[in-house]
This record gives sequence, structure tokens and C-alpha cells, in this order.
Amino acid sequence: MPLTDLLPQLSLAEKAALLSGDGDWWTQAVPRLAVPAVELGDGPHGLRTETGKDMVWLPSTCFPTLSALAATWDRDLVREVAAAIGVEARAMGVHLVLGPGVNLKRTPLCGRNFEYPSEDPWLTGRLAAAYVDGLQSTGVGACVKHFAANNQETDRTRVSVEADERTLRELYLAAFEHVVHEADPWALMCSYNRVGGTYASAHPWLLTTVLRDEWGYPGLVVSDWDAVHDKVASVRAGLDLEMPGTGGRTDAEVVEAVRRGELDEADVDRAARRVLHLVDRAHPAPGPLRGLGHRPGDTLTPTQEELLGAAAHHELARRAATASLTLVRNTGVLPLDPSSPARIALVGGYARVPRIQGGGSAGVRPTRVDTPLDALSAALGDRLVTAEGYRVGASDYYQEQPVPTDPDSDEALADEAVALAAGSDVVVAVVGLPLAADSEAVDRTDLALPAAQVSLLRRLVALDVPLVVVLQAGSAVTMDPWHDGTAAVLLTGLAGQGVGQALADVLLGRADPGGRLTETYPLSLADSPGMPAVTGERGHVVYGEGVLIGYRWYDALDRPVRYPFGHGLSYTTFTLDDLHVEVLDAAAGRVRCAVQVTNTGARPGTQVVQVYVGDPESAVHRPVRELKGAVKVALDPGERARAVVELAGRDFAYVDATSGAWRREGGTFVVEVGVSSRDLVARAEIELPDDPGLPPVVRDEDLPTAPVAWAVGGDGPARV
Ligand code: BGC
Repeated sequence: MPLTDLLPQLSLAEKAALLSGDGDWWTQAVPRLAVPAVELGDGPHGLRTETGKDMVWLPSTCFPTLSALAATWDRDLVREVAAAIGVEARAMGVHLVLGPGVNLKRTPLCGRNFEYPSEDPWLTGRLAAAYVDGLQSTGVGACVKHFAANNQETDRTRVSVEADERTLRELYLAAFEHVVHEADPWALMCSYNRVGGTYASAHPWLLTTVLRDEWGYPGLVVSDWDAVHDKVASVRAGLDLEMPGTGGRTDAEVVEAVRRGELDEADVDRAARRVLHLVDRAHPAPGPLRGLGHRPGDTLTPTQEELLGAAAHHELARRAATASLTLVRNTGVLPLDPSSPARIALVGGYARVPRIQGGGSAGVRPTRVDTPLDALSAALGDRLVTAEGYRVGASDYYQEQPVPTDPDSDEALADEAVALAAGSDVVVAVVGLPLAADSEAVDRTDLALPAAQVSLLRRLVALDVPLVVVLQAGSAVTMDPWHDGTAAVLLTGLAGQGVGQALADVLLGRADPGGRLTETYPLSLADSPGMPAVTGERGHVVYGEGVLIGYRWYDALDRPVRYPFGHGLSYTTFTLDDLHVEVLDAAAGRVRCAVQVTNTGARPGTQVVQVYVGDPESAVHRPVRELKGAVKVALDPGERARAVVELAGRDFAYVDATSGAWRREGGTFVVEVGVSSRDLVARAEIELPDDPGLPPVVRDEDLPTAPVAWAVGGDGPARV
């Protein structure tokens, strides 16, 4: 019998108790009726479970962060990584993993960008659905977060996002919607921020109108930790579970509110039923009331280690890291020739202590770490010479000590590295942002690397020795003044515990760099969307750039960028030709695009074929192009394949502000195929009619002139 059937037997107090946690990581059990508790654990790029000692975490595999994993553009690989995380969750007794994060990268400044896949909703939604699918295939639930419009850390627990409905639906809600429909996640986590003045944790429009009534979401909505400000309002708005527990305080508030007639008991029942449904999913068989229970100490038991599959998962972490490494510039120096007798200088503290992940609740205590220093030393022996170059803080990979200011020691380390580099044939400089710059609860204020590293790079490019820069950061950085003097730039993102071996394999040509950018690298911060008041002021952040974030922004303004969305080089070369775009069903907007991809180089490699759609003539401004399909192909030299993408209805549509509905406005559409948003190799035009099911577009002169409330609040958009 499903536990949801027990609902009528529960007292009001017992039902209210189900709506808040037991401590930080558990739901409340109901011993009287043998309803067990569910354990929640942080993700998303590995498992963070605490040992009971404050903030001491059990080891688990640290996979590439979602941002790096997304750079693979490979849904099968994402699925495989998420399934491995599910296996580890089971080993730890965790039933619900708090990930993936699907918030869009509205600004490169956001401290949690490393946790989010992309600046594009299509790509984010597809990769996140693959993640949820993989994780849940192991019997462990996913919790998609943070719903909604949590795109910055500045003032995150209070800031009110002022955005219009079209912007919310086309961008910030789209990935959630896709995941809800495609992957049936067990849970969604609401965000800390307000939207249009109402906290997301008590937002009837988000939690009920959109999520339940429109999308039909049957799963659980949990609060972000301490995001509930008014429990009764939250339950009424559609929140199910408050985390962490409040020691019974808010349970009593719920009971009181029902007794006073301020809260409908049906709202409590609905939320309690969803919690019971979660318990049913987490415990398909009768289970202990508190899962496996927490372990003393901070090591894994032998059984857990075996169940964890740590060795196999480390190999998977390496493979995923390799597929995520993104080569953005190569004048021909890479791959390095492993058999040449050249002397290679490896410079940089992050070669010894790599940046493998960001900080905050997503931090994982890795089971082991491949460092670039170890992996390259093993491969190159005494041909490798090394120097620290700049100081890094002491780090156990999830906490890092800040580096105190000391220009003298910076100078001394840089002098040593420059001298070493000057006598070498190639320099590999591993640089990156400190952990504190890729962290929850804070945003960056600029996009530059730390000053000591910029100064070192400036000196290295002045030498007459080819310089390969390996960059470790969770989001875009600026590359002046050193970029143009480099021979190659390889981005590792935050690639997890396998990064060292992955880097050695790619640098030495044993593997092709598989990554493609999922966010634009701007030339300067000032160029980026929403600047200058991008994170808002005085409690509000206005999304004035509307639907133009990421490449949509740079394309609309025709602004040059350092590296465009979708960009990444292989060691081989590809051609794309013979594009066929065929309208299969005009009324439904079903279109098939096929293009021939050929590996024209001498090595095996991967290419990501991207399909963008544009609608040059429309009643509203539309982005110049929007990603609507992508295929990753792996080809041997001389091999060819046909990349096929099918487009359908919404791929051509925008959200009509007068109705809130997606609308395809008939006319000419442009379909472009390429290998980045700025490297489009083929183009076709097609004609599609208006959506047959929708009334015609209201002409400008017929629009009502009544004032329109611009931002969406808790009661939803004001309609004209
Ligand atoms: C974060 C969530 C996280 C939760 C539990 C919050 O501060 O925003 O993403 O899952 O803590 O650690």
C-alpha cells in the first residue's frame, strides 16, 4: 500500500510535521504509522554528505562541475555521470540529491555559475534532463534547483527580480519546464530570491499557476535552506517541504493557522501527500525509519567504499574531464609532441593544487585528485621542469585558505618561473581563479585573474617561447593583456578530480579536446549583458536586457567577443556541408535539418554541430539567433556522418506578452548551422504559417493603451 493512502489516518499535527525537515538533511518520520524519513544530500557534481562533525564531509567522487560537464555537450556522458552519482548516493544512504542547478548564467559575475550548465535555456534543459534521467535510473531522486530566477548571489536571500513574463518564460523558466516534462524529477527546490516582490518560496504564480496548473508537475517542492519567511503563506502558495527543520516551530504555526481558519486544511493535505509520495519513491520497500544512519568519523566504511565504486568512478571522472576540456586558441603548438626532446616548463601553483570545483554547498571532498603536476611528470619525466610562479592558498579542494598579500614573495616566485621559462622550449602556465571567486553566496566584481597571475602571464608572453595557458575557472574571465601573446589557450573549467590526467592526455595529443563553450567569453565585463547595474541595487534587480542574455545579447548589439558561445577547437579539422532543411509539417512547425560532417584532418576528433533559428520579421524584437538543436559527432580521419536535428513548434515561437502563450508568428525563418554562434557555415530559409490554434497577432495599432504592470509578481502578470 502506498504511504499516500495513510493520509486520512494522520492527525493535523502529524501532517504539519511532514511539511518541515528533521534537522538539516532529513524529512520527519511518523513512527506511529511506520512512515520512514528521507535523507537529502547535496550535489550536483558529486555527493556532499556530512559525517555529523560540523562541515566535515565524507569522500565521494568529484566529477566535473555542471558548467564543465555541460561543455561536453554530450547527453549520454551527462547521464552516465549522474548515474554514478546515484550509485554513490545509494552507498551513502542518500535518497534525494540536491541537483542539478538549472539557473541560467545571466552574468559572468555570478559566483555559482560553475554549478549551472549554460547561458542558453535549450542546452541547459537538455543536459539537465539527461542528468535527472541518469540519476533517477539508480532509484535516487533528483531535486532541480533553484526555482526561479536565482541568477546571482549578491543579496540572494532578499533581492527582488523584476522581469517581464516573456523573459521569465522564454529564458528562466524554460529549462525547468523541459526537465519537468521530460524527466519527471522527484523534487524541485525553490530559490531564495523574490520575484516581482514576492519570495519564490511563497509565490503562488510560480509554485501553483505555472508549475502545477500549467506544467502539471506532480513532484515535491522543497524550500532552499532557510528560504521560508512565512510558513503559512508558503504552504498556501504551493510549497510542500521546508528545509531545514525548525524544531517544530513552523509545524505549530501551520496547525494554528488551520485552527484559526487562516489556512485551508486541504492545502496541508496536498503538501503532506506530496511528501508521502516522496517517501514512497525513496523507500520502494519497507525501510528503516532513518535510512542507513550517519557514520561516525570522516572516512568511508569498507562496504561504502566498495558500494561507491570509487576506482571506476575516478576513471569516469577523468573521461568526463577529458571530454570537457575546451581548446579556444591554438596557433599550432598543441598537441605537444611527446617524443620530441624539448624541455617543457610547467608553471603555476594550480598545476600542483588544481582548481577542481567551486565552493559552498556544492563542494565535494574528492576520493583522490589527479594533479597536472603528477600526470605531466609521469608522462614527460625529466623533460618537465616546474616552478610555482604565484602563490596558492593551502587547499583540501573544498576549502582553500586565502593568500595574504605579499608583493615580495609574488615577485620572487614570478622571477623564478620566468627564468625557468626563458630556458625552455615550451611553457605551460596553469592559472585560474581562487576558490573564493567561484563560490556560493558571493559574486565576483570583475572578470580578471588575480593580479599576480596577470603580471606573471604578461612577463611570460614577453619571452620568445611559445606559451600555452591552461585556465581553471568556473565562469568567463577576461584575457587582457596576455591573450594575444599566447600560442594556445586551453580551458579546463572546474573539471573535477580527474583533471590532471585529462589535461596531460589533451596536451600530449593522447585525446582530442572535446569541450565547446556553453557561455560567451566577453572582451570586457562592461560588454556583458545587464551591465552596469547587473546585480541590482537597493533590493531590486531589473532584468532590463529582457530575453537578450549570453550570445543573444552580443549578437543583438553586434559586439565583438573574445570567444563565442559554442566555440572550441579540435586537433583535427571538419567540414560541414550539404545542408538540407525540410519542412515536414508546416502547421505543426516540424522541420528536419540534416548536414554532412566530415573529418578532413589526420586525427580522430569530435565536433559539435549546432542549429540556430532566427525570425527576422516579427511583431516583437527577437534574438538574432537561438540555439534549438545540437549533435556531437566523433569521427575518424576521412570519416563522414550526417548530423540530423528535428525542430518543432516552440523552436520557432516567442512568448506573447498579451496572453503568456508561446506563439509562432508565421513568415520566413532562418535556420543556421555551424560550430559556434559566430561561426555559421550554412543557412537556409523556410516559410511557416501562424500557429493554427492561436488567434492572429494583435497589430500594434490595435493594442490597448492601458498601463501594464511590467514585472511579474506573486499573483502573476497583469494582463492588458
Ligand atoms: C543552497 C542549495 C543547497 C542547500 C543545502 C543552500 O544554501 O542554495 O543549493 O542545496 O543550501 O546545502
